[in-house]
Amino acid sequence: MSAPARIEGNYDPAKDYRTVVANITNHCNLACRHCFVFRDGNPNEAPRSIRDEMSDDVIVDTMVHLRDKHDISAALWMGGEPTLKPKLLRRLVELFEHSTITTNGQAPLVDFGPHVLYVVSLDGPKDLNDQIRGEGVFERAIANLERLPEDFSSKFQVQSVVTRSNQHRVEELIESLRETRLGWMTFSFIVPAATDPDNPDAWADNFERAEAVEMIMALKKKYPGFIRNTQRHLELMLPPYADRVTSYCPPNQMILSLYLEDDHFTVPFCCHGDDVDCERCGAWVVFHSAARMEANGLISWEDAAGFAG
Ligand SMILES: C[S@@+](CC[C@H](N)C(=O)[O-])C[C@H]1O[C@@H](n2cnc3c(N)ncnc32)[C@H](O)[C@@H]1O
Ligand code: SF4
Ligand code: SF4
Repeated sequence: MSAPARIEGNYDPAKDYRTVVANITNHCNLACRHCFVFRDGNPNEAPRSIRDEMSDDVIVDTMVHLRDKHDISAALWMGGEPTLKPKLLRRLVELFEHSTITTNGQAPLVDFGPHVLYVVSLDGPKDLNDQIRGEGVFERAIANLERLPEDFSSKFQVQSVVTRSNQHRVEELIESLRETRLGWMTFSFIVPAATDPDNPDAWADNFERAEAVEMIMALKKKYPGFIRNTQRHLELMLPPYADRVTSYCPPNQMILSLYLEDDHFTVPFCCHGDDVDCERCGAWVVFHSAARMEANGLISWEDAAGFAG
């Protein structure tokens, strides 16, 4: 047994965290154009060898400590690319009732049991995805999904990040994924950096983004069951709701986000790091939890006065 790692940054030991989101490695086998993790200023330094990152034992002990201290039942494993550490993942998924592993899908998926969900990231049909994520990435990810045995018990889905540059080809992506054994997918929207106001992948504001959101709503009707974002999730991305949701940001109230940094973890401003433009945030987790809170009667986004700033 080793001692848990130190937690620095915006960690609040008294906070009622529900979910932990942890970057378990800063190594990645891709270099995607839109990636928020590797933005300047975020804790994301990787030693030359992945073996020189924090040891698996310390990571496991840190998660046990945080799970027990905050009574956390769900975890999301991120990086970098978390599947670069399969032995560590096998230990981590046993610690929590539910685990989600976000992956670029380049490594064969391991069956960790039905309490684990793989979220495989693809950002367009083959040619466009590979412009964003790298040559050969689309076909490798699909091949890894297609070769899963029939009795594979972990769940799996695709998540795609919609941007100003790929919005016109989303339907092609849906069509190509529907030919595979995938049962469903979700759409997130780009979270731009605050320091990059002219990012061509991001819309100028949420009024300009609305056309893309409405297009996903129309595709949801056209392909019933395949797109899992709820109707309310998508509505909340439109003005005037979007500003109310992002100024409150439900996940920031309940997610403990851990970025790996040398011998400790750092809690950044939010799970998307330190350099984020909240006003244009389109993260799936934000609008999904906003819609869920409303469905559970915990909040109403109709009441503008409650979200005046
Ligand atoms: C940072 S990656 C880490 C896990 C894994 N390497 C992967 O690509 O899925 C987690 C998810 O964040 C998404 N993502 C990266 N940059 C983003 C951004 N600027 N805005 C919204 N989502 C982003 C990725 O596409 C991926 O689905
Ligand atoms: S694979 Fe994931 S972590 Fe790696 S660069 Fe792409 S989005 Fe970022
Ligand atoms: S960028 Fe998005 S997830 Fe992060 S704090 Fe802002 S609204 Fe919340």
